[in-house]
Amino acid sequence: SWTMAGFIDEQIEKIRAEVGDKKVLLGLSGGVDSSVVGVLLQKAIGDQLTCIFVDHGLLRKNEAQQVMDMLGGKFGLNIIKVDAQERFLSKLADVTDPEQKRKIIGNEFIEVFNDEALKLKDVDFLAQGTLYTDVIESGTDTAQTIKSHHNVGGLPEEMHFKLIEPLNKLFKDEARALGEELNMDHELVWRQPFPGPGLGIRIMGAITEDRLETVRESDYILRDEIAKAGLEADVWQYFTVLTNNKSVGVMGDFRTYEYTIAVRAITSVDGMTADFARLPWDVLQKVSSRIVNEVDHINRVVYDITAKPPATVEWE
Ligand code: XMP
Repeated sequence: SWTMAGFIDEQIEKIRAEVGDKKVLLGLSGGVDSSVVGVLLQKAIGDQLTCIFVDHGLLRKNEAQQVMDMLGGKFGLNIIKVDAQERFLSKLADVTDPEQKRKIIGNEFIEVFNDEALKLKDVDFLAQGTLYTDVIESGTDTAQTIKSHHNVGGLPEEMHFKLIEPLNKLFKDEARALGEELNMDHELVWRQPFPGPGLGIRIMGAITEDRLETVRESDYILRDEIAKAGLEADVWQYFTVLTNNKSVGVMGDFRTYEYTIAVRAITSVDGMTADFARLPWDVLQKVSSRIVNEVDHINRVVYDITAKPPATVEWE
């Protein structure tokens, strides 16, 4: 009968047979799928695997460090981490259109990855965390194409990589179960979905370091309170959005005129449709008062109570 442990053994054998003594390259995004592939490949071929982790500077608080600690530290993967925040921010300067942001982030991501990949010698294989759903969805015209996704990257023709896609018969929940079986951290394996363009599409309007800090800190507070309330498993996705709306407030004796943070928390089964999560009032109250008190430039917090459709999950 089929077991996850059996699947792992089978994949390891298959990967070893295919790769032989050649080298494999893998792009890590910090997400579940590429991380699971990394750990699986490490088990199969050890140091023949090199990973490139492009940190575009649009990740959540502590996220890049967690990836490095777990995959580089605990599992001993060879990871080349590229700190590319400056490169991304300079390309994104003054860009306010959501689709434009996605395009720029997606293209820059591929360029940074390729720059690093080209420095490596004698790599024959490229591994990817493609899931079964990615295989059947690509080419079909679903709601996915309403927003351009950058997860499926393009590599220069001259690189001639052979692809290794060990998860391409698995659904998302099976990829997570595989991660559990491989002893990966529960927190990473059950991580909520996070868009490739990251915090870049959670800042309405122009992206600056200062505005990134604002959305990152408020997001951290929300995650902290959801965790403390034990609600992580009940909510499909939860995050904050830095709006470009300013409003009047009062702080002590002073009138303020500052930005609004929107809290988005949804329930969903697949992200295609969603409802707003009925978060307890006292959790929302704590989130609101902490954000206003602890995050600069914010004097108001609102809760997004819109379903998808008609709204999307993200604000951009
Ligand atoms: P929307 O906002 O389209 O989001 O209702 C549905 C799901 O997709 C995620 N999302 C993205 N993921 N690149 C990604 O990799 C993107 O550009 C992107 N836009 C949205 C969103 O977080 C939600 O889980």
